[in-house]
Amino acid sequence: MKVTVNRKAHFNAAHRLYNCEWSDARNAEVFGKCANPNYHGHNYELIVSVRGDIHPETGFVMDMKILKKLIKEEIEDVFDHKNLNEEIKEFATLNPTAENISVIIWNKLRSKIDSKLDLSITLYETPRNFVTFKG
Ligand code: NI
Repeated sequence: MKVTVNRKAHFNAAHRLYNCEWSDARNAEVFGKCANPNYHGHNYELIVSVRGDIHPETGFVMDMKILKKLIKEEIEDVFDHKNLNEEIKEFATLNPTAENISVIIWNKLRSKIDSKLDLSITLYETPRNFVTFKG
């Protein structure tokens, strides 16, 4: 019997979406306001979901204290109040879209969570726009 446990988290970060191979006009056309050369911020809402069997001794799928600490140390402390393009090495050459941020978050957490458990990431860039990545 598989159960999914979820933990919400939050970080604020700045980014700029652009493709350096393209003209300013094409970047503006494709990325709109997100291509602003002076960056802009988002209030990212993160949901980390872990699915697996209920452990017979604890009744837990995963100890939420451990998940909370992992998200704080690996994600919130790393991304919060950062300029993603300039300060996070993974985005030096990778566009920091919600899609790519969700993949980077999944990669950071996957190696720290028991491989018997499934991991999925839901990332809200705005209250209406969100992405999911399950690996
Ligand atoms: Ni944006």
